[in-house]
Amino acid sequence: MTQLPVEIAAQVVRWQAGHGRNHLPWQNTRDAYRVWLSEIMLQQTQVATVLEYYARFLARFPDVVQLAAAPQDEVLALWSGLGYYSRARNLHRCAQIVVQQHGGRFPRTVPELAALPGIGRSTAGAIAAFCFGERAAILDANVRRVLTRVLGFRADLAEAKNERELWRLAEALLPKGDLHAAMPRYTQGLMDLGAGICLPRNPSCMLCPLQNVCVARRDGNPQDYPVRTRKLKRSAQAWWLLLRQDGAGRLWLERRPSAGIWAGLYCPPVYASRAELDTALPPPAAGAAEDLPPFIHVLTHRDLHLHPVLARGVGAVADPHCAEAQQAGWFTPAQCLELGLPAPVRRLIDAL
Ligand code: ADE
Ligand code: SF4
Repeated sequence: MTQLPVEIAAQVVRWQAGHGRNHLPWQNTRDAYRVWLSEIMLQQTQVATVLEYYARFLARFPDVVQLAAAPQDEVLALWSGLGYYSRARNLHRCAQIVVQQHGGRFPRTVPELAALPGIGRSTAGAIAAFCFGERAAILDANVRRVLTRVLGFRADLAEAKNERELWRLAEALLPKGDLHAAMPRYTQGLMDLGAGICLPRNPSCMLCPLQNVCVARRDGNPQDYPVRTRKLKRSAQAWWLLLRQDGAGRLWLERRPSAGIWAGLYCPPVYASRAELDTALPPPAAGAAEDLPPFIHVLTHRDLHLHPVLARGVGAVADPHCAEAQQAGWFTPAQCLELGLPAPVRRLIDAL
């Protein structure tokens, strides 16, 4: 892993003072209520949209006591248009807890803040840094992008241990010394870099205060960060397998296409439904075909629901699959077992 360049915090702080955003309505205050409200609104919403809602919300609920005392409907009404309404419900509950359990004052440490509804680790870090000068890191999507690029952090953030390591590095980079002055500026500086300079595509590296230490810029590949493999959603698919057996006990197998599931392996013809399978058999054979017990075969990203159907004494029949198949034919059980077979097909043939 990279050595941590010690000058990063100082560069960000200096740059923020001269080039960052310093006149947003939730800045230049250490009032945790105002900072908290802005951070919750900004979680899923752009600054430009938040500005208007923020002013209206504060005009109606100037402090946490008045928010806590309001009917939920009124909070939701003022939120309406910002979306993600669980944020508004959590906001209201959080205000009530701060009043009831913390005497109307937000706690100042990250663990206490993160225990409140709607406040995750990064939001807790932002509030602690902005309001209390705590040496607390943030790691929202923008900051994750900035830091992984600067550090050349290529480990997959889909894995919890890598995510923990990035948090550890984010904490190691925090300013030292006069934290009450440096922490708000550093925290805002990282946000400003993520929002205006270190953009997802075409980052403005020429304007970036970290251009001389940034690993991604050195390597010319900022677009490759952050690394996060997508967790594929599992899907399910049903296949009907036609086990055709001729008078001599041989089975009809076809070689599967060279791409896709069971690529290149030998397999009975596959159909998407029992009705489709029936169309491959002459009418009397379709009636006599025997449904074997269905079972599930688990592939990496898919569950295959397999429905084997055994048709005995059926000769060659018109079958679109036969024409398509590269190699197909009748195989004795012994021959079958010498072919490349998918494991569940092998077990099926074994059992016949
Ligand atoms: N996004 C999240 N927090 C922010 C802040 N304090 N200023 C600007 N954008 C933000
Ligand atoms: Fe992002 Fe470029 Fe700055 Fe690196 S140099 S942090 S890639 S803007």
